[in-house]
Parts: sequence; C-alpha cells; structure tokens
Amino acid sequence: MSASSGPQPSAPTDPHSYARPTEVSVRHLALHLTVDFATQTLAGHATWQLTRSGAAATELLLDSRDLLIEEVLLGEADAGMPTDFELGPADPVLGQALRIALHPDTTAVTVRYRTAPGAAALQWLRPEQTAGTQPFLFTQSQAILARTWLPCQDSPGVRFTYEAQITVPTQLLALMSASNPQQLRPDGRYHFRMEQPIPAYLMALAVGDVQFEPLSARTGVYAEPATLPGAVDEFADLEQMVATAEEMYGPYRWERYDLLVLPPSFPFGGMENPRLTFVTPTILAGDRSLTSLVAHELAHSWSGNLVTNATWNDFWLNEGFTVYFERRIMERLYGRPYAEMLQALGHAGLLHTLADLGPTSPDTHLYLNLAGRDPDEGLTDIAYEKGDYFLLTLEQLVGRPALDTFIKEYFGSHAFQSMDTTSFIRYLRRELLDSHPGLEARLRPEAWIYGPGIPDNAPPVGSERFAAVDAAGQSWQQGTPASQLPTANWSSHEWVRFLNQLPANAGVAQLSELDATFDFTNSGNSEILAAWLPRTIAAGYTPAEEALHRFLTRVGRRKFLTPLYKELLAAPANGPARARRLYAKARPNYHTVATSTLDALLGRPTDK
Ligand code: BES
Ligand code: ZN
Repeated sequence: MSASSGPQPSAPTDPHSYARPTEVSVRHLALHLTVDFATQTLAGHATWQLTRSGAAATELLLDSRDLLIEEVLLGEADAGMPTDFELGPADPVLGQALRIALHPDTTAVTVRYRTAPGAAALQWLRPEQTAGTQPFLFTQSQAILARTWLPCQDSPGVRFTYEAQITVPTQLLALMSASNPQQLRPDGRYHFRMEQPIPAYLMALAVGDVQFEPLSARTGVYAEPATLPGAVDEFADLEQMVATAEEMYGPYRWERYDLLVLPPSFPFGGMENPRLTFVTPTILAGDRSLTSLVAHELAHSWSGNLVTNATWNDFWLNEGFTVYFERRIMERLYGRPYAEMLQALGHAGLLHTLADLGPTSPDTHLYLNLAGRDPDEGLTDIAYEKGDYFLLTLEQLVGRPALDTFIKEYFGSHAFQSMDTTSFIRYLRRELLDSHPGLEARLRPEAWIYGPGIPDNAPPVGSERFAAVDAAGQSWQQGTPASQLPTANWSSHEWVRFLNQLPANAGVAQLSELDATFDFTNSGNSEILAAWLPRTIAAGYTPAEEALHRFLTRVGRRKFLTPLYKELLAAPANGPARARRLYAKARPNYHTVATSTLDALLGRPTDK
C-alpha cells in the first residue's frame, strides 16, 4: 500500500491535541486489552511504532484523559526498558499530555494502562439496556474521546495502522474498526488488523451478544440476535449503495463494509468507524425509510476516512462533502424527488440552526474557531448543511459532470491524507476555479467559508412532494378534516415535513384530531415520533405522555433528546421541574456525549 502515515508536511497545529507530530509521530499501534465488565475497565498495553523527524525529536507527546498509566517502556512490551514519564496538568476537555523522553535509538514505546470506570468514550450497558440478556460495551471516539480509552496522538491529522488483541467474556463477540470476526471464538480472544492508516477518532470497539448476517460478498450486518432479522431486511440495499458510491467517486478502499446495530442508548445516529459503521437501532423503521443515514456513514469512507479534516475547525470538509455525497447516492438509488425531500429537510434544519445561533455568529462560518472549547459543543448542523449547500452552489455554477470530476480527483489525490481549509481552497482554485473565468467571483468561496449565514448566490431548494404536503397542511388548517387529507402514499419524510409545518400554537383539540386519524403517538418511526412529541409537550397533550417517557428512557440519541428536553423546559406551569425529574430518571441510560450536552441544559441531577 502506498498510504502515508504520520502528519502532513504543512499540517496546521491542532488546538485539541497535546501531540507534536511534526517532531515525533506514531505510525503503528499494537493494542492488547482485556475487557472487564465487573470493574467497567479496559486494561492492557499499547505499543506505538514511531516516526522521528530528526535529532531534535527527543520526546513523544501523547494525549490521555482519565487513564491510569501504570508503566511506560522504551521498546516493545516484552523487551522494553521501563522509563520515567510525566503527566501534564489536567484540562477537563483535553485531558493530560503524557510526555515520554526518548533515547536516540528508540523506535517504539509501550504504555501499560487501564481506563477509568467513567471513561467518557465508553458506555457499559447492563443486560436490561440491550435487546438481550448480556451486557454490552461500545466506544465513541469522535471528536476527542479516543484519549479516554487509549493513550494516543488524538489529532485527526495523525494517521496510523493498527493491530489489536482483545480479550472478552467468552459468550460475547468483540468488533473493531478493523478486520472483524463473524463468529464467537471459544477462548474469547479476538485479533484485529487495520492496514489502512486511520486517525485516532476512528478507533472503535464494541463487545456484546451480537451475531453476523451477510448481505453481499463484502457487506453485512451485526446486531443482537433479537434485532438481526429486522436489520437484515432494513439494509437490503447496502451492496447497491456501496456500488453506487464507487461508480461516482472511485473505489471503496477499505475492503469490507459492515454495519453494527447498537442498543438504543447509542448517542448518535451513526458513526463512520472504518469497515464497521455503528448505527442506532432507531433507524430500523421497518420500511427502509431511514437508510439515508447509512448512505451518509458510507460516504464518509471517502469524505472523512480517506480524506480527513486536519483539525476539528475543518469539520465541514468531513461533513459537508458527506451530506452532498449521501444525497447523490440516494438520488441515484431512489430518484430525484426522494433526494429533494432529504435536501429540503436538511435545508429547513439549517435555517433553524442559523436562527438559533444568530445571523452574525462565527459558529455559522464553515471554518470554525474551536480553540479553547470542547469541539463536541461547537460542531453543529452548519458543517453539514451549509457545507452541502456550498457544494450545491458550486454544482449549479459548473454543472454536475465538472463537479464530479473534481470531487473524484480530490478523493483520489488526497487518499489517506488530511486536508485543512486553506489547502482545500488552494486546491479548489487550482483544479476548478482558475480554469473557469469569473467562476470564483460567482461562487464567492471566502464568503461561504469565512463568513456567516447563507450567501445570496445559493440556489433555491424545493421539493414537489413537500409542496403537496404543505398544501395538505394548509387545507387542514383551513378546516379540512384530517381524515380527508391526501396522505395515502406519504413516506416518513412527508410525515415529518407535515409535523414540522404545523402551526406552533396547535392545541390539544387539533393534536387529538391528528392523533385519532394518524396515530402518531404509537408510531414505530423514530423520526416521526421525534417530530410529534415536542408538539405534544408544547400543547400539554397528555395522551402522549407515556410514549414520551418511554422514548426518553430508552433512546439515547442526542439529536432527538435535546429538542425534547428543551421543549419540556419551556412548557408552562412546572415544565423545568418535570424536565429535571424525567432527566434524573433517564440519565443513567445515556452516553457521556449526551449527558455532557444535557447536563449543561438541565443541570446535573444531584441525587444520582
Ligand atoms: N461523524 C458523525 C458523528 C459525529 C460527529 C460524532 C461529530 C462526534 C462528533 C456522523 O457521520 C454523523 O454525522 N452522524 C449523524 C447522522 C447523519 C445522517 C447526519 C448523526 O448521528 O446524527
Ligand atoms: Zn457525518
């Protein structure tokens, strides 16, 4: 493989890492861990092979947070020499620098360590929190949580290959962002290899009672036994998605593409862990209506995993391209009107976020300034939807064939490298803008990237199918009974649009009529529930209370939880008290990614 490891020659410094990869960088990891559910810890060692750039490179700096470092050796685990190390001051977000002085001939370093029981990346689930009878563990490393389960150079501009040996209870399967087993091993020992260099935020591990079912020669799905059959049906088009993506932007570079369906407390919709995307079970709608999320995570196999944002300030390069690519995949598979609905929902979300952040907020720039902040709190819809909108603007100016050639070439020429915003603009000029006179003036990339809001050269966004939904909504507001609305062939996207277009002050009588007709409260579609339940809170529509409580205590997906708790807080009478009571009850089921956002919103419950 011609893939390169280590930092880019001109990489910008990463404000969220203590590492100094231009001096000494990591190149390969051998990870040995034992998973202990009783103490909720991982224990073992990590051996890093190093690349040193000159005689001045005398010290290795790794990121760590809440790790218990037991010993550091210069060299391999079995032959290394114990050495002193130093842990720098602890920052609540960045953790601590682990400084290791190197000898002139040191080429590898081994760290023996264990994780803290509350390690932020890890969620340890009791059997009751799963679909089965066994405990479950999963990691979530993006953006800067890898350092809570692994001492590493936790910067997206630093890539390494890895091998791992993970020991787990014998009735459980272990999976990683690497070559994976398809069956239990009687000794509970699993070996993994990731031969393509990846950044630390793509390190992932899951351990649970999961089984595998193939979907095609190179795709398949892992899930708990009770969840597997439904998942196999839901993701039946997975091979077609991969094939379509390859037709557009070049070969899939990671060999296999599998999905792992997690228990419902997973804090995201999906996470693009290489070779093994992690997904929430809340996309198992039974009708394949929420699979654009899979197209999104798959698209990251190019935008993100192959060409990676250099720092979290450049996050739009990961997510903007991915949203654009996701919708192109969906258009090719399911047609333009379908993709237009996704576009319109995304656009409505963007307008919402812009209104939230305010018209001049620097957080509405594509290029962010997250120094001194937890990146997780600064990463919003802007990178996704404004990033996509920027590419749509470019598409409309140069046409699809020219844009597709550019994107394919961009992925191909920067494979297994990182990209920062300045370098991207330079590349865009050289490959596209400079050869089309007047294009830069019409595109105004700097206004999009370094300015707030939506520049006025953005193309209009519309959806025929939503126009029909909006007309139905209007007619209902003017008195047409719900039962007479033309909803026969509506997909979940149309229902979500319908719910989002309801007047803000819809009251109990109106919601009752809708619920009696469409049974939203008992919907099995999480997107419909997530659009419906806030309405019921605002109106004080009590027949949905039980469904709300069930949702809040079962589902840990932050995107759904945040709006629900905000609505609860804003509810009249004892809204805040109720919000806090429900939160105190549900919080033990949430991952730290969700609780860190919700604690800030609701306060940290004291009685737990
Ligand atoms: N990589 C992101 C998830 C992420 C972003 C985790 C930033 C931590 C920090 C993933 O690809 C993603 O965007 N997931 C979305 C779904 C997508 C369809 C918009 C999600 O989880 O909601
Ligand atoms: Zn994404």
